[in-house]
Amino acid sequence: MSNQKQILKSGEKILFGIVAVFIGLAVVAYAALEVYRTSRPEPMFANKTHYDFSEEGQVGSALFRKSGCTACHRALRNGTNMGLSLDGVGSVRSLEWLVDFLANPEKTYGAKTFDHGAPPKEAAYVAQLPEKDRHAIAVFISELKSEQGSSSAAMPPEGRSDFIDNMVGAWAPKEWKERYQDIRTKDAPEGASQGRTQSPASKKTSEQANNKAHQE
Ligand code: HEC
Repeated sequence: MSNQKQILKSGEKILFGIVAVFIGLAVVAYAALEVYRTSRPEPMFANKTHYDFSEEGQVGSALFRKSGCTACHRALRNGTNMGLSLDGVGSVRSLEWLVDFLANPEKTYGAKTFDHGAPPKEAAYVAQLPEKDRHAIAVFISELKSEQGSSSAAMPPEGRSDFIDNMVGAWAPKEWKERYQDIRTKDAPEGASQGRTQSPASKKTSEQANNKAHQE
């Protein structure tokens, strides 16, 4: 047995070197981004969700955290990023829907659910919570509102968006365009949602929206 120190082979040196460079770059990029983020006068992403709790909503907020919902959900910066965020859900679902969903998930969803439902599903316990608690939690969720245009809102941003037009033009299958109506163009002339032809009328709204944005 030799006592010779093990020397790295050149291939190993290169490999470790590359890994070290990557780690170094990641640290530098993170530090630079943090400096940029903290030195900005405004937050990097505008907050598009808001809330205004009733008394029952406050109770529901505490119950939401106590009842283990945060293991799979997130609301008001509490909970996990791995599951479904409930911020803004109050602008999409009504209080009745939420009350019904917590009691009868599959029936209310109208589709097979993954975690809510009958045992042994992981969130089966939710339907067994006392009715009063479920109601308070539903009130809490119904008070989590989002502004139009936030990713959790039912409606896209106001005014025309070339980005959305291009995405719809490029990705929406042809049958969708025949079968569904673009909710932004309920009374817009035909073709306005195809991303290519923009009617003078819709151009005007986009300009108005731009002007409005500049004035704010
Ligand atoms: C084990 C993970 C898990 C837990 C715990 C859990 N949920 Fe869920 N939740 C889900 C999943 C997944 C969905 C999507 C529906 C489904 O497949 O079950 C969902 C859907 C929902 C929805 C419907 C959202 C929508 O708009 O479609 C609400 C409301 C909700 N959960 C509330 C709660 C509340 C309140 C609790 C705690 C009392 C809770 N959840 C606990 C996983 C979980």
